[in-house]
Parts: sequence; C-alpha cells; structure tokens
Amino acid sequence: MSLNLICFFLCALIAPDLTDEDALLSAPQNISILSTNMKHYLTWSPVVVQGETVTYSVEFQGEYEREHVNESWIPICECSLITATMCNITEDISASVAYNLRVRADAGARRSEWGTLKGFFNRITTSLTPPLMKVIADGYHLLVELQDMGPAFQFCVLYWKKGQESRMQQKMVKEVSSVIHLDTMEAGPDYCVKAQTYVEVINRSSSFSQTQCVRAQDGRSMWLVTALISSAVFVVAALTLTFLTLKTSKIFQYSCCPAAVLPETLKVSEPPTKLILHSSEEVEQCDLMVQVMPSEEAVRLWFQETL
Ligand SMILES: *[C@@H]1O[C@H](CO)[C@@H](O)[C@H](O)[C@H]1NC(C)=O
Ligand SMILES: *[C@@H]1O[C@H](CO)[C@@H](O)[C@H](O)[C@H]1NC(C)=O
Ligand SMILES: *[C@@H]1O[C@H](CO)[C@@H](O)[C@H](O)[C@H]1NC(C)=O
Ligand SMILES: *[C@@H]1O[C@H](CO)[C@@H](O)[C@H](O)[C@H]1NC(C)=O
Repeated sequence: MSLNLICFFLCALIAPDLTDEDALLSAPQNISILSTNMKHYLTWSPVVVQGETVTYSVEFQGEYEREHVNESWIPICECSLITATMCNITEDISASVAYNLRVRADAGARRSEWGTLKGFFNRITTSLTPPLMKVIADGYHLLVELQDMGPAFQFCVLYWKKGQESRMQQKMVKEVSSVIHLDTMEAGPDYCVKAQTYVEVINRSSSFSQTQCVRAQDGRSMWLVTALISSAVFVVAALTLTFLTLKTSKIFQYSCCPAAVLPETLKVSEPPTKLILHSSEEVEQCDLMVQVMPSEEAVRLWFQETL
C-alpha cells in the first residue's frame, strides 16, 4: 500500500499533464482478467497510433477505496507507462473482495480516457488447476512428489489400495518439501493416488489430478532373484562346458590316439622315455646343469626313483 502511495506521487510527477488533445486517443478496449492459480493479469487490446509508441497505465480500486476513500484509484507502479498490453496485478489483489480496474493509453502528448473493466474482479474466481504429481514406489514405500505452486497452496492427497476405493485415505500436505511419504504397501496389489490443490484464503479446491497407480517393488527379493538366476546360469554354463570338454577330448583321443591293443612284442617299456622327459625338464629349469646319462645308468636311476 505504501509503495503504491509513493508510486502514486511519482506517477503524478512523471505522467505528462493533460492536454486538449486527450480525446484524440481512443481508450483501450477488450479489457479483461486472466487469473489462474492465484496469479492475476489484466489484459487489453492495443491502441494503435501510426508512427508513435503507445504506453499504458493501470489503476485499481478495492472495496476499501471505493467505500471509504472517495472512490479513489491506486496506480500500479509496475504498470505505469508500459508498452506491454498486459499487467501483472497479483501483488495488488491482496484480499478476496471485489476490485475494479482501469487502463488508459498515452502517445506523445496525447492521452486517452480510462477504459474500465466491465464488472468487478474477485480473486475467488481464479481458476485452479490440479497439481502435477509423480507417484513413486520405493520398495514398499508409497511416495508422491508434488509440484510446488507457491506458499498459498496446499494439497489434498487421496490414496487407496486398488479395489478398496471405499477405504480411501487422505493426507493434507501444507508444505511441499520434495517427496512425501504416504503409506507402506503390501506386496501384490496396486496402490492409487490422486491429488487436488486447495487455497485456504479463498476456501477453494481444484479438481483432482489423474489417478496414478503403482505396485510395491521388493528391492531385496528382486536382487535375490537376479542373483539366483545368474548363479543358475553360471552353473549350467560350467556344467555344459565341462561336458563338452570331456566329450571333445574323448573324440580326440579316439580319432588321434586310438587305444589299439598292441601285440606283446611291440610293447616297449616306457620308463627310459619318461626319464628322459623328466631330465629334459630339469635341463629346462636349470640350463647350467646339463647332464648326459648313459642309457643303462638312466634305467637304474629310474628304478631308484620310482620304487
Ligand atoms: C476486441 O476483441 C475482439 C475479439 O477478440 C476483436 O475482434 C476486436 O478487434 C478487439 N478490439 C480491439 C479494439 O482490438
Ligand atoms: C472526499 O470527498 C469529499 C467531497 O467530495 C471531500 O470533502 C473529502 O475531503 C474527500 N476525502 C478524501 C479522503 O479525499
Ligand atoms: C506476477 O507476479 C507474481 C507475484 O509477484 C509472481 O509470482 C509471478 O511470477 C508474476 N508473473 C509473471 C509472469 O511474471
Ligand atoms: C469452505 O467451504 C466449505 C464448502 O465448500 C464450507 O463448508 C466451509 O465452511 C468453508 N470454510 C471456511 C473457513 O469458510
């Protein structure tokens, strides 16, 4: 109010004096109010003057000014000599009473008559939209995230187990602080949520948002199932691999090294070969200890080692 008073005097100083030509400019028409979710705007059709910039100034009159202050008008500072054809009057509409609004045009030294809003505007007629919401199932927790619409807004949240609409539960949310916990869910059924905005100063509610349903997601059992499935897959894979390896080695054994029964005479005693292999391994390990053994000595050593 005090700001508006200061503005009143400022505007009075800034605004050009009335001239004889003021009737030449037509008053703004189609003056109307756009009001959604307690945000109010006055709009009007532009006044067109060839080759000149037209500016507009807006004033309002509340019940108090109308009835107790000689029907005086209060200029809206933010909307004095503006070029836009819209004025944000949200701050000025501070009570749920009937307001009158008017706007006039200025172009150079010329000024129009006031164009006045037809009828009064009361903020209780603001159109309220349902809140934007997101329903979340965090494990067994039923959560809801609501759009922050400002301090004047509260939310009435309804939630229920699907099929049990008669046992609907209600939660009034006065302050939107990130995510709101509604309930702990049972595994299985869907849980549904809808919400409406409520504005206490006008005692009005919006319609309800579209219902959103979610189901409990058991994070722990999901993890367990995943773990079980992956270990099962692993075991099957390991078994298959082992089986295939055995099969393959058998095939190779049969195709490359058939276990044919050799005649007795062809049966050579393997020991010397084994021993040679053994010693060659030692040679590989220790290059400096090269030993060349006579075959008789080797046979004797082999017997010593194996027996
Ligand atoms: C007022 O609005 C109507 C319809 O929206 C439009 O036809 C008319 O031209 C407007 N008046 C002015 C002065 O712009
Ligand atoms: C209201 O108008 C009357 C007469 O028109 C005048 O005497 C009075 O001083 C005015 N009051 C204010 C607050 O302007
Ligand atoms: C109008 O004014 C209100 C209150 O100051 C503000 O919250 C809102 O954001 C403004 N709207 C625009 C479009 O600037
Ligand atoms: C709000 O409106 C409801 C009807 O819609 C009414 O029953 C209730 O008494 C009102 N509350 C207040 C505080 O005016």
